[in-house]
Amino acid sequence: MTTNPYLPDTPLILGMMRLLDHPDLHAPAALADWIERQLDRGLSVFDHADIYGDTECERLFGKALARRPGLKHRLRVITKTGIVHGHQDTSVWCTKHYRAEGGHVSAAIDAALGRLQMEQIDTFLIHRPDPLMAVESVARALENAVEAGKVRHIGVSNFLPEQWRWLQKNTRLPLVCNQSELSLSHSAPLFDGLLEATLSDHLKWLAWSPLGGGRLAEALPDTLLASAGAQTGLDDTGLAIAWLAAIPGSPIPVLGSLRDSRIESALKGCQTVLPRPLWFALLEAIRGHRVA
Ligand SMILES: NC(=O)c1ccc[n+]([C@@H]2O[C@H](COP(=O)([O-])OP(=O)(O)OC[C@H]3O[C@@H](n4cnc5c(N)ncnc54)[C@H](OP(=O)(O)O)[C@@H]3O)[C@@H](O)[C@H]2O)c1
Repeated sequence: MTTNPYLPDTPLILGMMRLLDHPDLHAPAALADWIERQLDRGLSVFDHADIYGDTECERLFGKALARRPGLKHRLRVITKTGIVHGHQDTSVWCTKHYRAEGGHVSAAIDAALGRLQMEQIDTFLIHRPDPLMAVESVARALENAVEAGKVRHIGVSNFLPEQWRWLQKNTRLPLVCNQSELSLSHSAPLFDGLLEATLSDHLKWLAWSPLGGGRLAEALPDTLLASAGAQTGLDDTGLAIAWLAAIPGSPIPVLGSLRDSRIESALKGCQTVLPRPLWFALLEAIRGHRVA
């Protein structure tokens, strides 16, 4: 099996979608301290999107980098475009919609670079498959951005196999990843062929909401958490991340917590191999039924 060389030394990606929930990190110096702490523990990839906080998450991140420019060269940023919220729609319809069009993608890349105060985005993703996608113009916009050095890698998010294959057919650059939901709470892709399609097309799976957006801990029975914790030394966060780490192709969790304690637990999970029966016991507890 050919392996995908994209992000080989990245146990976890830090998702910035919830940055506005943390007012203590909004001052540039405080956020720069937080970023530096993550870099010091070996985490250097941060996930953004233009819609997170209506662009404010990228803007705050950029202000922190401007405050401490030395950080910029130690980290990599993933960001995305393609979703327009109803309140951002300037037409009379004020309708939430997707916008995978070349002109929109080029403008979004320039705008993200400006907000992030960076010279290059490591990976730029089309956030959602758009049924009206202007595939050739999107492909050219992505290629032009890579040629201009504004973007290093290109990829997709929430795409199904035929959707990413259609974009891939139209560009000479490799799509490196599909960022898509995957966790104990969302395990269907392990049973419907999506995992195998991702592996055979050599895309890296970036697993969003690896803790089920916070719902996972409640969903797992306390007795199982206690016995699994006693056997592995992991808490609920560590168990959820270790569970993902066992999946072929090693999906990279895009963790949503900005709390140091939870990030530490998640890192511990990355370093732990779950016994196979425990992997299935966790799955069974969440799904409420045994595998057939
Ligand atoms: N591409 C896409 O379409 C897409 C969609 C959604 C998200 N994303 C990306 O994925 C990242 C992660 O998403 P996410 O935030 O949903 O992921 P997550 O890591 O599954 O959830 C993090 C949230 O769960 C809470 N949580 C975790 N364990 C908990 C517990 N035991 N008790 C109470 N709360 C708990 C955290 O709270 P604390 O803050 O207290 O730790 C935090 O609010 C986002 O930041 C974004 O970058 C991408």
